Amino acid sequence: MYSLDVKASSGSYPIYIKNGLLGEIGSEVKKIYKGRKIAVVTDSNVNKFYGQKVINALNAEGFETFKIVVKAGEESKSFETLLQVYDKLLDFKINRGDIIIALGGGVVGDMAGFVASTFLRGIPLIQIPTTLLAQVDSSVGGKVAVDLPRGKNLVGSFYNPKAVFIDPLLLGTLSEKFVSDGMGEVIKYGVIKDSELFYKLMNYENSEAALKGIDEIIYTCCTIKADIVERDEHDTGERMLLNFGHTIGHAVEQFFNFTGYSHGESVGIGMYTITKIGEELGITKIGTANIIKNILIKYNLPWTLPEIKTEAIIEAISHDKKNIGDSMNFILIESIGNSFIGEIHEDKIVEYLQNNQK
Ligand SMILES: NC(=O)c1ccc[n+]([C@@H]2O[C@H](COP(=O)([O-])OP(=O)(O)OC[C@H]3O[C@@H](n4cnc5c(N)ncnc54)[C@H](O)[C@@H]3O)[C@@H](O)[C@H]2O)c1
Repeated sequence: MYSLDVKASSGSYPIYIKNGLLGEIGSEVKKIYKGRKIAVVTDSNVNKFYGQKVINALNAEGFETFKIVVKAGEESKSFETLLQVYDKLLDFKINRGDIIIALGGGVVGDMAGFVASTFLRGIPLIQIPTTLLAQVDSSVGGKVAVDLPRGKNLVGSFYNPKAVFIDPLLLGTLSEKFVSDGMGEVIKYGVIKDSELFYKLMNYENSEAALKGIDEIIYTCCTIKADIVERDEHDTGERMLLNFGHTIGHAVEQFFNFTGYSHGESVGIGMYTITKIGEELGITKIGTANIIKNILIKYNLPWTLPEIKTEAIIEAISHDKKNIGDSMNFILIESIGNSFIGEIHEDKIVEYLQNNQK
């Protein structure tokens, strides 16, 4: 079992990572929760694979459990879903001494986490992330949110869980598309903070081979994220490094209405593009973009910028980040493993985009 503690202003919380941990979830929860009632929030896909298993494991330890199943997909990060979930919690007479378990990917983690942070002004939360993205990223760091019709994650809060239980074996049922998506974030950790992780990923033959050692990789990623969020819990400085590749990535995702490119694919394109721009401006060591391109290819992620109107990218970028005059804030790298927050003039971005569209 790998474990680490994340030090947060609300107190520290543990992350446990172990193949097969889900089978022991009843006794693990019992160690940290002395109450009786538990509401398990999950989605329709995860429920099919693991819903009953979790309920049975908890019931076996004498807990009184209630299951709330929402529709799988981003659309469940909505106010409509929140109302349904709050309603069920009232039906089950959940109160502030009880707990909520978020069992699912980033969607369930964010939405159920927001429910936990707001219902009766706060119910303790346990995260059981089931996608690679959720295991290496969204379940750690306390950001919870739902979407508004005008944009993603526009209503949310910082709300740390009591514990995060990660069972990498759950990734066995995840579709290839979502494995690649999570790999995009794993690669990002290597690029921004850990060249050893990056070259370890580079040395695997393919994504399937990397999955065999994924428990250790997840531990490394959680350690990097924990380290960053401990120093900048509320995202006003260093935590922004986690957005490497995300600014241009968001622009791509948004331009194709969140249906053309997945999040991981867009981040891959964003990481390559900003690194190439960094090279052209003399900020990034020459050859780094090519190294990133090679790892993206290995993990079935795209790197070429699709044809998008330059104005649309600039528009999306300028909404995305705090900008100073005509300069824009970006996460840049000097080399693999060394990142920083820097500024780039809008003209330079426009020039690059005009010369490098597919
Ligand atoms: N809070 C944060 O810090 C943070 C960070 C990054 C992303 N996010 C959020 O995370 C969300 C995306 O998360 P995601 O990529 O995990 O998507 P997701 O939660 O929609 O899961 C992806 C798909 O996989 C299915 N699934 C989940 N686990 C499975 C398993 N083990 N086996 C089979 N199917 C499974 C889900 O039902 C869903 O269809 C976005 O809303 C994003 O905003 C939050």
